[in-house]
Amino acid sequence: MENEKMTLTKTAKLVLQEQEYELPTFTGSEGEVGIDISQLRSKTGAITADSGYGNTGSCQSAITFIDGEKGILRYRGYPIEELAEKSNFTEVSYLLIFGHLPNKKELEKFQFGLTHHSLIHEDMKKFYEGFPPTAHPMGILSSMVSSLSAFYPEAGYNADVELNIIRLLSKLKTIAAFSYKKSIGQPYVYPRNDLSYSADMLHMMFAVPSEVYEVPKVLEEALDLLLILHADHEQNCSTSTVRMVGSSEANLFASISAGICALWGPLHGGANQQVITMLEKIRDDGGDYKKYINLAKDKESKFKLMGFGHRVYKNFDPRAKILKASADKVLEQLGVKDPMLDIAKNLEEIALKDPFFIERKLYPNVDFYSGIIYRAMGIPTNMFTVMFALGRLPGWIAQWKEMRETPGARIYRPRQIYVGETTRSYVALEKR
Ligand code: CMC
Repeated sequence: MENEKMTLTKTAKLVLQEQEYELPTFTGSEGEVGIDISQLRSKTGAITADSGYGNTGSCQSAITFIDGEKGILRYRGYPIEELAEKSNFTEVSYLLIFGHLPNKKELEKFQFGLTHHSLIHEDMKKFYEGFPPTAHPMGILSSMVSSLSAFYPEAGYNADVELNIIRLLSKLKTIAAFSYKKSIGQPYVYPRNDLSYSADMLHMMFAVPSEVYEVPKVLEEALDLLLILHADHEQNCSTSTVRMVGSSEANLFASISAGICALWGPLHGGANQQVITMLEKIRDDGGDYKKYINLAKDKESKFKLMGFGHRVYKNFDPRAKILKASADKVLEQLGVKDPMLDIAKNLEEIALKDPFFIERKLYPNVDFYSGIIYRAMGIPTNMFTVMFALGRLPGWIAQWKEMRETPGARIYRPRQIYVGETTRSYVALEKR
């Protein structure tokens, strides 16, 4: 492993082709045991095979702890339930990136930075003109973030790293809101320094120059909660992508842009959009949710219950639990009656009693109820994954920073088991 923060405990024994090898084992601060195989190939000539990396610890990290069996999620040791109730997204972002809750002075400085770097270079607005109106906002988001490296070329790990982190956190919401305005053909609304992070995002999305728009408190609080719940989730697909790209010492903006692309997929952050598409389909099909439960159980159908299942959570996803309660509250406060919420609850109820879902430990994940809240807030479906990206940004940054600060960190470079042809001789075209 790259450094030795974990406690060396016992050794594991491996018998390979009748020869015995001892492998060091380590225990993390929550008692998780890892077998150190970093010398495996040089000692034995063998490598491990772990499709989807389900059993591979790619790094040591002090940022987020998940116990999937018990449904525990903590950022820097703080339970997600407490942060969701008592904190706000700005504070949580600071916590993830810098490792501790900020004191008053630290928070003020951080907030000042987040508001005073929120403008994007006016030339960047020209990029939006090049995208067709049908462009998915995730494609725009990732391109725009990558293009930030043209405006701030020193975005590697240098003296300006903190400034570039603030720039990125601050500008992502402007970029995201502008991409929404572009998609509906409205003029861009510039960021406002007097608003909170979440209120500013909503203001840039929903204000129009001809009217005074005040962000309703219920929307601001709902978005803040959603952002907190999405802020980090240890070594998931997009975060591992950020670390993977960053491990080549690619700059911050390039690394995060790659993470945005990884998040876009329907099995990851794109699931929130897919959940709504699925619920709409069920509604339009007469609300027969049992039919869709049966489809999800039928492997031939290739249909999956979107927003269900998780690689790590095998009991419940604590974020989904919070969001289910929040969906009820937000819809009630907004006076919205959405038949999708009833369909979602019915699906959940019936799935949780079904042996297929019980045996496979499939439970609603964070994406199952988040889409219903976004819908009630008036956020269009194709922006859902963008909102996820906005929330996940501090986590990606914290993980990128942790990797760059790890002494002896190496470029990510997995091995493979080659199963292709063995050597063969080239055959001339006329003889094939
Ligand atoms: N509907 C029906 N069956 C499912 C589902 C589902 N949503 N998820 C998993 N299964 C089945 C799967 O077919 C497999 O069955 P079997 O053992 O008979 O082959 C078993 O459950 C295990 O699934 P897996 O695909 O091996 O699990 P995984 O850990 O590789 O994948 C997952 C996890 C989240 C990609 C998957 O559960 C899934 O595709 N869910 C739907 C998409 C989704 O909601 N994604 C958002 C994840 S949470 C947000 C985030 O952090 O990205």
